[in-house]
Amino acid sequence: MIIKTFEISYLHDTKDALKSAFYHENSNDVFNEWEFAEKLLKSDGYLKELCVIALDGEKVVGYNALTKAKIGNSSGLALGPLGVRKEYQNKGIGSALVEECIKRAEKFGFSWIALLGGDYYLRFGFESGKKYGITISENEFDNEHLQILFLDKSDKISGKLVYCDAFYDCEGNLL
Ligand SMILES: CC(C)(COP(=O)(O)OP(=O)(O)OC[C@H]1O[C@@H](n2cnc3c(N)ncnc32)[C@H](O)[C@@H]1OP(=O)(O)O)[C@@H](O)C(=O)NCCC(=O)NCCS
Repeated sequence: MIIKTFEISYLHDTKDALKSAFYHENSNDVFNEWEFAEKLLKSDGYLKELCVIALDGEKVVGYNALTKAKIGNSSGLALGPLGVRKEYQNKGIGSALVEECIKRAEKFGFSWIALLGGDYYLRFGFESGKKYGITISENEFDNEHLQILFLDKSDKISGKLVYCDAFYDCEGNLL
């Protein structure tokens, strides 16, 4: 298994890998992670070097992206979608994708990475956004799941997290 920067020639297989990771009975065409990943690639938040895939031979088995985000005047990154093909899960691929993205974010000098997610991310050092007074919406459920990893420990900002435009509908609501 190797990890490399996403290239457009892998789009079809990447969407297939994300569908394998995320598909469930209630998945729909309005929002799903595999179409959303394609939308992100065309967004103003896309950063080529921070979008990675895991390959088994030439088969895409996992995907992770960091896109531009803001908390007040501070520029940082948002993590996701992260997905690993069902039959490849629990083999360390998700961890390798997250760790590679963290390493690259540090290299490019970003001071934080935020995400909406569960306990999986605690192992990488993510902490509750609540602890630092960081919110994302009026929705408490979203705020409860907001996590942040400070890469620059001296820059612990607070405020409202704003993703790039692709994460919002035309009325400004989070997708
Ligand atoms: C979450 C996901 C990316 C993890 O990738 P992975 O390659 O299977 O994970 P790893 O092999 O690196 O790590 C496996 C460990 O994570 C744990 N884990 C997996 N999913 C988890 C979750 N949703 N919450 C908490 N822990 C989780 C496993 O129990 C295992 O724990 P262990 O190390 O104590 O045995 C993958 O399961 C996936 O694609 N899930 C569906 C899509 C998804 O939920 N994406 C994240 C959206 S926030």
